[in-house]
Amino acid sequence: MSTPIPEIRRLKDLSTLVSLSKRRGFVFQSSEIYGGLGSCWDYGPLGSLMKLNVKRAWWNAMTRRSDIVGLDAAILMHPTVWKASGHVDGFSDPLVDCKDCKTRFRADNTDSYINKKQCPVCGSKNLSEERQFNLMFKTHMGPLEDSASVVYLRPETAQGHFVNFQNCQQSSRYKIPFGIAAIGKSFRNEITPGNFIFRTREFEQMEMQYFVKPGTDEKYFSEWKERRWNFYKKFGIREENLKFKDHDKLAHYARAAVDVEYKFPMGFSELEGIHNRSDFDLSQHAKFSGKNLEYFNEAEKEKYIPYVIETAVGCDRLFLAFMCDAYREEVTTTKDESGKTTEDVRVVLGLHPDIAPIKVAVLPLSKKDELSLPAEALRDQLAEDFDVTYDETGSIGKRYRRADEVGTPFCVTYDFDTINDGAVTVRHRDKMTQERIKIKELNSYIAAQLKQFNN
Ligand code: GAP
Repeated sequence: MSTPIPEIRRLKDLSTLVSLSKRRGFVFQSSEIYGGLGSCWDYGPLGSLMKLNVKRAWWNAMTRRSDIVGLDAAILMHPTVWKASGHVDGFSDPLVDCKDCKTRFRADNTDSYINKKQCPVCGSKNLSEERQFNLMFKTHMGPLEDSASVVYLRPETAQGHFVNFQNCQQSSRYKIPFGIAAIGKSFRNEITPGNFIFRTREFEQMEMQYFVKPGTDEKYFSEWKERRWNFYKKFGIREENLKFKDHDKLAHYARAAVDVEYKFPMGFSELEGIHNRSDFDLSQHAKFSGKNLEYFNEAEKEKYIPYVIETAVGCDRLFLAFMCDAYREEVTTTKDESGKTTEDVRVVLGLHPDIAPIKVAVLPLSKKDELSLPAEALRDQLAEDFDVTYDETGSIGKRYRRADEVGTPFCVTYDFDTINDGAVTVRHRDKMTQERIKIKELNSYIAAQLKQFNN
């Protein structure tokens, strides 16, 4: 009898991922034992590993090029930075309160308000006036809490790139076009955070600013659009779940802006922004700081303020997109002699191995010392090269399922034959094929298999 082909079911709602994330240690509600803190999340044992992988994938894609350098700027910056950037005066959302049910919502993206001037929750028309609410978190530097000591938690990492433009260019001696890449925390006091880690008040951004000669900006904007699309494709995001969306309205400084949208369970939503920011940022910082931020091209003896092509993606949002895209349920239905049907569900996170938190699970067939002791030694051997886990609890089938559910690409079973032939069974997550591999060749075998995904 042939093996039935399973039906594939994809993720339908975020709540499935929220519970998997908690149960398996990807993401926990912040301060949960105190009832949680709104829109803040903690990355658990597997989540923190996976988040590092997301960052590494982005960082390598950016900085393993001959024209991009890295930067790790401070979160707190001189307050005038945010005057120059326009954030003090303009980084706000219109806020409305419902006087009946006390819901607070954004006026500019709430359909019931835009169309009918109604509260999105109770439908009341008893609403406050719209007022502008600045999204920057304020704090004070030093012991005095007065207006002179106000500093902001940065709402984007980009400003660190602009104020360090000359430092990076001169210390690296790079010529234009060149870019600065950084990963770091940003903070926005969002009026309506939500959808799990999609929109939060504390999040991480991965931004790259590419400084170019005016007039070449359109060419580089197109190039970066293509590169960013290929990045998502390379790491396994299905193309049918991605699209570009041009901005309907451009910010006053932007010459072009496009979002890469991903089809989250709540619909297509922004994953990354790609912007042509003209010379706005460097000109503003030159004006407010009094420093000359022109670039001098020696070969052509010309001076200019560079234009900036920006690519900006949230690490948490990309983490969520990877989880959503990878989640699948393989459902096999069987009928017994009486005609009763049974469904067997294999939950798999089909993550690209570079993104998967654990690469190999080591599973001794029995808990007896004669298998568990050498299996632990094998765990250590593999841990020299990979993130590994060791699991000896429950049937081997259950352990395979546990590894599938967190996206582990390979399971290695140490059985009684291993003692004699020095070989283990390697089981592949996606095809579920099994191979017998010698222990002394195992690390290089796994490394070669992982590399294959990138070719
Ligand atoms: N420097 C440009 C900039 O910050 P943005 O479109 O405001 O542009 C870039 O932000 C990316 O940062 C977004 O595409 C999104 O992935 C992420 N992001 C922004 N706000 C976020 C929030 N509140 N929670 C999680 N991610 C956020």
